[in-house]
Amino acid sequence: MKFQLALATTLLLATEGLSRRTCGNNNPPVELIEQAILFEGMTKLKAGSDQADDDLAARAKYVPLHIHNVYVSQTRDQGYITEQDVQNQFKVLNDNFASTGIVFDLVSVSYTENKTWANAGSGSAAELAMKKSLRRGGYDELNIYIRPLRSGLLGYCTFPQANVAPNSDKFFLDGCDVLFSSVPGGSTVPFNEGKTATHEVGHWFGLFHTFQGGCTGGDFVDDTPAQGSATSGCPAGKDTCRGDQYPGVDPIHNYMDYSDDPCMTEFTTGQTTRIYQMWDQYRAPKW
Ligand SMILES: *[C@@H]1O[C@H](CO)[C@@H](O)[C@H](O)[C@H]1NC(C)=O
Ligand SMILES: [Zn+2]
Repeated sequence: MKFQLALATTLLLATEGLSRRTCGNNNPPVELIEQAILFEGMTKLKAGSDQADDDLAARAKYVPLHIHNVYVSQTRDQGYITEQDVQNQFKVLNDNFASTGIVFDLVSVSYTENKTWANAGSGSAAELAMKKSLRRGGYDELNIYIRPLRSGLLGYCTFPQANVAPNSDKFFLDGCDVLFSSVPGGSTVPFNEGKTATHEVGHWFGLFHTFQGGCTGGDFVDDTPAQGSATSGCPAGKDTCRGDQYPGVDPIHNYMDYSDDPCMTEFTTGQTTRIYQMWDQYRAPKW
């Protein structure tokens, strides 16, 4: 009895406060990095031409969205979220992506009680079984699994990939996993305004962390200043890459950094361009 109580307390603590953001997408595949470098070069070339004024608003893109809540049992501390929570998360996604022209269209919501699936780790057989059962739509449709994860991660996502055959394992695994308590009003302070989903979906569109590769590496997006390390909290003026070759302070307000939810407020114009470049390359409907 004592042991069980102690265990329950530990599990609660594990989800109720996190000292820093933890995302599973720190190592983009080499092919995607190479593609990002190509895109960065293309953007620079275009910047000098009259094609630069690509009207992004005119490209407003509707992305069908499927939200799946997979929980251990139907209570708030066991991974269950209400339909209102789903709506609130949906609204945050659309608000956060508004500047990009992306509009999510919530076309389905599913609820599944399955302890094995709720706690399944990235790359596990249970994760594949869950996604084979629950995933909806084509490669141009976003599936978000909101669940306990039990891995210490706030979330993880698949990056876009080339040649994903319909109904292959790669196809089924495509999507984002988000810790249930990170939804708006959830218990994972200070990551409980729903911006974990925004950050993860950024990866689904092909964006990297702004601190990817440190000062000399980068996310291969021109207008996000070089950043030497992930941000914790919201430290105004943080500047990890100094010197003439590194203009600007760290982009701590960017959704693709690791800052606390209240600190995250923007995607840049360059990231928006990148989202569309990646979309056209990998996710534009082909079937
Ligand atoms: C729950 O997950 C297990 C493990 O993948 C699976 O065998 C089982 O069919 C699932 N149950 C339901 C009701 O989906
Ligand atoms: Zn991330």
